[in-house]
Amino acid sequence: MQPIEGQTALVTGGAKRLGRSIALALAEAGVNISIHYRGSQAAAEATADDVRAKGVKAVVLQADLATPGTAVGLYESAVAEIGPIDILVNNASIFRQATLAQCSEEELHANIQLHANSPLQLSRCMSAAGRQGVIINLLDTRIARHDSAYGAYCLSKRMLADQTTMLALDLAPNIRVNGVAPGPILPPAGSRDGLMDELAARVPLQITGTPDDISEAILFLVRSSFVSGQVIYVDGGSHLPRISRHISCLFCCNTV
Ligand SMILES: NC(=O)c1ccc[n+]([C@@H]2O[C@H](COP(=O)([O-])OP(=O)(O)OC[C@H]3O[C@@H](n4cnc5c(N)ncnc54)[C@H](OP(=O)(O)O)[C@@H]3O)[C@@H](O)[C@H]2O)c1
Repeated sequence: MQPIEGQTALVTGGAKRLGRSIALALAEAGVNISIHYRGSQAAAEATADDVRAKGVKAVVLQADLATPGTAVGLYESAVAEIGPIDILVNNASIFRQATLAQCSEEELHANIQLHANSPLQLSRCMSAAGRQGVIINLLDTRIARHDSAYGAYCLSKRMLADQTTMLALDLAPNIRVNGVAPGPILPPAGSRDGLMDELAARVPLQITGTPDDISEAILFLVRSSFVSGQVIYVDGGSHLPRISRHISCLFCCNTV
């Protein structure tokens, strides 16, 4: 496993929730962190304080990555403030109900910009620096199936998934590119009581995951110097195709 102590990471959407947990896990491993936020400045500053408490450097940087043209400026600011980036974690996300049939063009563009194009521009900046590095893209177990209620989200996350494998080839040998596809980990803000129990019942392992499950997968990928173009599903088996017992019975004993 590759030592990562003393390296520097840029974590987009790193102020809260999974981004914060990823930033703290990397900091625990000795990595300096550039914490990007869009609106959560106070939370970003608090995460930076907690990162510094682990004995590494932290800076906070603001950018709206759903706006075209902002990603390059964010990357340049990160390099100027904390030094060259070794680890890029494309985590920032929006998760709004919008079917492909009905969502506005603006909503579609925002999803594609935030989940696919800004990660691409950040990845290109990293490649242009000409150093060795690793990129981790936060995907979603939904890339393995269709969740039409979140059509714009799923389509743009699928773009990011394809980008993960395409860039793994394009940016080799200097840069490894991998993805982590979480299942239910944290409920979306404002969701109803009991949602996570309902979601757990649909997961093959009958549980939901934790932020630590995601951070552990990311640390594995960051340290694994011979792994590129991989997606680890951290989803309790949710991505696996399921044939209903009713149909499989037709195959095995020809009775229904
Ligand atoms: N939570 C889960 O259970 C789950 C499940 C499957 C996949 N995932 C994936 O895992 C990642 C982290 O999940 P999460 O639930 O922690 O994410 P989240 O809370 O939905 O979003 C993370 C951060 O993204 C930032 N963001 C939103 N719009 C932005 C914009 N226009 N420009 C820049 N940043 C923006 C926000 O920063 P500010 O707060 O600073 O505005 C937010 O805190 C996401 O990529 C998500 O798709 C999560």
